[in-house]
Amino acid sequence: MTTPRQATAVAPSNIALVKYWGKRDLDLNLPATGSISVTLDTLRTRTSVSFEPALEQDDFRLNGEDAPAHAARVTRFLDLVRRTYGVGEHARVETANDFPTGAGLASSASGFAALAVACDAALDLGLTTEQLSVLARRGSGSAARSLIGGFAEMQPGVAADGSDAFATALAAPEHLPLRVLVAVTTRAAKSIGSTEGMQRTEATSPFYGAWVAATRADLDAMRAALAAGDLERVGVIAERNCLRMHATMLGADPGLLYWNAATVDVMQAVRLLRESGVGAWFTIDAGPQVKVLCAASDEARVAQRLADLDGVVDILAAGPGAGARIVEDDALPKEQA
Ligand code: DP6
Repeated sequence: MTTPRQATAVAPSNIALVKYWGKRDLDLNLPATGSISVTLDTLRTRTSVSFEPALEQDDFRLNGEDAPAHAARVTRFLDLVRRTYGVGEHARVETANDFPTGAGLASSASGFAALAVACDAALDLGLTTEQLSVLARRGSGSAARSLIGGFAEMQPGVAADGSDAFATALAAPEHLPLRVLVAVTTRAAKSIGSTEGMQRTEATSPFYGAWVAATRADLDAMRAALAAGDLERVGVIAERNCLRMHATMLGADPGLLYWNAATVDVMQAVRLLRESGVGAWFTIDAGPQVKVLCAASDEARVAQRLADLDGVVDILAAGPGAGARIVEDDALPKEQA
């Protein structure tokens, strides 16, 4: 093969409504439990990959700049693709997020979903959605869910090789009139990444076993709430599952405290909104930003309340959207910022 083999993909972020926090296998990146998420229609990553015979090493650029902090993880993923599919060339990878950079928002889910889809097309691998989800999972567990549009469930699987640990669709994007408002409380990068945080939690938190058991029950409850189209139940279960995840993180040694003062202010404001009769529920990942869930009909009121809080520096709005897909090279996502 002497010519470059290239393709471009766009993948959205997703927000877990029942969280993934813990692994049954570190090397294959297999989750200890399932998880349920909503794939978003904004907060996307666009990635172009080009396998070129002339390259002596992989070349990775994020938003037009070298990104050494991420390059090793990208090369590990490309090594896996090369090993698995017998590819010799190194790759040029150009990736851009359509959400403000430095907003402290996780981009590994959208990033590895886009990279998996772009590699599949560039190398003409012909992978199924399930196989793409398995591949994306090797880059980042949450990325496996961004292959699927709407509401997705990640299967933890039982196979030792991880071939049955992939995401499947639970419901189409229009199934629920859900809105997600991301209250950005700081632009600083998070201190401890998910992989390290999970390992510490598994090894040291006395609450980890209880978290795994509670998550299995929350998965059943969330599946039923989604099937019934019951937004309030979805919100209640998502908020309690998030707090249970943070409880097991806080129980690690040393404890993982991802919140800042504004994070707590937003949580309190959401509960006050509920007391005043507005349906709003929070969920928080391994960082200080708060994702507030509400009905489309309540979005303006909830957004106004969040904007009134001193510690909220930005609000990004999203709804359920389509999964990762191939795009023409010039189909750049519009900058939001
Ligand atoms: C708190 O998918 O980032 O956002 O598989 O180690 O890359 P790795 O972890 P990652 O973890 C996501 C954790 C979470 C919850 C979730 O998205 O389910």
